[in-house]
Amino acid sequence: MTPSLSENFSFDLNDVWNESADGIRITNSEGNIVAVNPAFCQLFDKPESEIINKPFYILYHPNIQSEIIQEYKEDLARNNVKTQLERKAVLWNGRKVWFEFTNSFLKSSSENNLVLSLVRDISDKKENELRLEKSERQYRSLFNNTSDAMFVCYLNYGKTLGSFVEANEKACQILGCSINELFQKNPLRVFFDNREDEILKFIDRLNSDKTIIFNSVLSGKNNDRTPVEINSRLFDYNERPAVLFISRDIAERRDIEDKLKQRTDQLRNLASKLQSIREEERKMISREIHDELGQMLTVLKIQISLLSNKITGNDLIKSKFKSVEKLIDNSIESVQKIASKLRPGLLDELGLIPAIEWQTQDFMDKTGIDCECALPKEEIDLDQEKSTALFRIFQESIYNTARHANASKILINLREVNNQLILEVADNGKGITQNQLSDPKSLGLLGIKERALILGGSVEIKSSMNNGTTVKAIIPFSKSNK
Ligand SMILES: Nc1ncnc2c1ncn2[C@@H]1O[C@H](COP(=O)(O)OP(=O)(O)O)[C@@H](O)[C@H]1O
Ligand SMILES: [Mg+2]
Repeated sequence: MTPSLSENFSFDLNDVWNESADGIRITNSEGNIVAVNPAFCQLFDKPESEIINKPFYILYHPNIQSEIIQEYKEDLARNNVKTQLERKAVLWNGRKVWFEFTNSFLKSSSENNLVLSLVRDISDKKENELRLEKSERQYRSLFNNTSDAMFVCYLNYGKTLGSFVEANEKACQILGCSINELFQKNPLRVFFDNREDEILKFIDRLNSDKTIIFNSVLSGKNNDRTPVEINSRLFDYNERPAVLFISRDIAERRDIEDKLKQRTDQLRNLASKLQSIREEERKMISREIHDELGQMLTVLKIQISLLSNKITGNDLIKSKFKSVEKLIDNSIESVQKIASKLRPGLLDELGLIPAIEWQTQDFMDKTGIDCECALPKEEIDLDQEKSTALFRIFQESIYNTARHANASKILINLREVNNQLILEVADNGKGITQNQLSDPKSLGLLGIKERALILGGSVEIKSSMNNGTTVKAIIPFSKSNK
């Protein structure tokens, strides 16, 4: 058989039959195989001699033969051999395959209903397709089962956000709409409350930083509003620049933050209250000790002295009286010291600067550490709360130096800059470690910070190994209303 396709091109059909990579099979109306090519024999793992004149189904595993026969009968009854179909089959030898069949009736044959089938092994292709489908399903399920809402839209020309092209179930849920309704929504409205200026800034930053985290509020169906933190990032989607928005519901976090802030404020107020009560108590005790005890001792001293004057001639008793007088003097001095330790009277009577000067002198006398003070020339008109806070911060700082720093010098600086009072206490000691600074047991340092915070100020503690420590307290202050 040598058909001619053109004048100078002809070929032998036997070559097509023998060389075809696809299997070719011809079956008669009873479903018996009348011819197969070598590729067919290879596909089904059987020599031609075991195939010819056999029913087509013997090539399949006994378990699926009845199913295949049934299908074939139905096709014939409809006089419709499916022209093309993909079939998953188990061959007679148990091998599992995917075949693609292309069937056609051979009308020109002498016998009616001869069916020509081209058979191709598509197992690899099918397996890849199935694997791809599975991974797509897994990705979908992952995408839909995250607790974060996810949206994707294209970034057109690197300048404007296109409509949504992808979103997960959580996204629909949070916006209270179907996926199709969501695709109709404008991302500008959803994330940026229609604010053109915001979106321009956002796209500019996204182009340079590739990822931006921002807060927004998403509106649902019944105007319910969900505060969200949105993690947005630029990525390639279908080979086009696109933006992925991952929105996390932060309502609960906000709630906890608010509660935490409330608690912190309450604790701070409580601490402030306790501190002022403590100061008041100290002031009262200091005054009582100073006035009551001091006066009683003075009266005692006078009476002892009068008594001793009345004694004549007895030197032993006289000297005893003298030593009692001396003891009373010492007691008066102690009482004064204890009283001013509790709360320096100077602070209430003359103000912060004299109190600092007195405390510095007393500190130098006691510790031998050299102190240099740079204080304003004139007294600052401060309310008692602020002067007490600054004085206590100052006291804690210098005593910390004496206790921990192994320093030889302290510089004390108090100045007024732009409606702020700045107190700096700098030593040349060994420095504080970061751990000590953040240790919750460092109650002295915590007290310093809290005192400043209560007054709307702040404290910075700078320190480096062997390079000393500087405590800098900043307290808001204005001359007009203290
Ligand atoms: N000026 C300083 N120099 C070196 N170490 C310091 C200084 N001030 C504080 N520290 C360190 O920080 C720790 C915490 O200080 P503080 O809160 O005042 O607690 P306390 O003085 O009761 O130990 C101290 O134990 C000490 O180790
Ligand atoms: Mg301390």
